[in-house]
Amino acid sequence: MEERWKAVDEYFEEKLGTTDDVMENILKETDEAGMRHIEVSKAHGKMLYLMAKMVEAKSILEIGTLGGFSTVWLGRALPKGGRMATLEADPKHAEVARRNIDSADLVARVDVIEGEALDRLPGLMDRGYLPFDLVFIDADKENNAEYLKWALKYSHEGSVIIVDNVVRQGRIIDDTEEKAAPYIRKMFDMLEADGRIEATAIQTVGKKGYDGFLMAVVK
Ligand code: SAH
Ligand code: DHB
Ligand code: MG
Repeated sequence: MEERWKAVDEYFEEKLGTTDDVMENILKETDEAGMRHIEVSKAHGKMLYLMAKMVEAKSILEIGTLGGFSTVWLGRALPKGGRMATLEADPKHAEVARRNIDSADLVARVDVIEGEALDRLPGLMDRGYLPFDLVFIDADKENNAEYLKWALKYSHEGSVIIVDNVVRQGRIIDDTEEKAAPYIRKMFDMLEADGRIEATAIQTVGKKGYDGFLMAVVK
């Protein structure tokens, strides 16, 4: 089936404009920097962009930048005067991302903030951001519950929270093959216990195989 998932993604690329020269260049730069290709798929990137448009996001937070692929999709949805922060621990990734954000003409709107996300999150509001209309969590899966807490802290009623990679080939429900599984489930435990968030999770297939994402709205 994997071949067919990939072929259908390619069909969507052609029909729906899920890629363009800027995006292809980001993938090339990521490649040439020797980074792993773990960015969201093209269709998923465009979905993030559309979600940001749906809520007319003016203030966006991303945790986990890599080469800036999802960052540029989200940044493109911002109106003039909108702002986005993206947190990245790896200096090389941050550097590649900054270059890619520049080539996407988004430097005025998007800041790459270098450092461990849990070290940078506490001081984020001192940098002048408004509460976030949309938060995309896509870094080390072990800290997802912590990241969700921060997302909630910096949200308002109606803020959207999206978390990548909550399925991992279906391995999140047992701990034999996926070391992050218990930590991902810790986030689901939090969602079960916390009445402030309405959420669903969707399983996906495509070029990146079998995975899924969580989407939530803050009450
Ligand atoms: N959102 C990107 C992919 C991110 S991959 C996209 O779809 O295009 C995950 C990224 O999180 C990697 O670049 C990794 O270096 C970064 N990361 C991992 N642990 C982190 C941490 N503790 N703090 C900040 N960034 C982290
Ligand atoms: C991994 C991380 C991701 O964010 C992703 O989308 C796929 C894989 C990883 O660390 O293996
Ligand atoms: Mg991911």
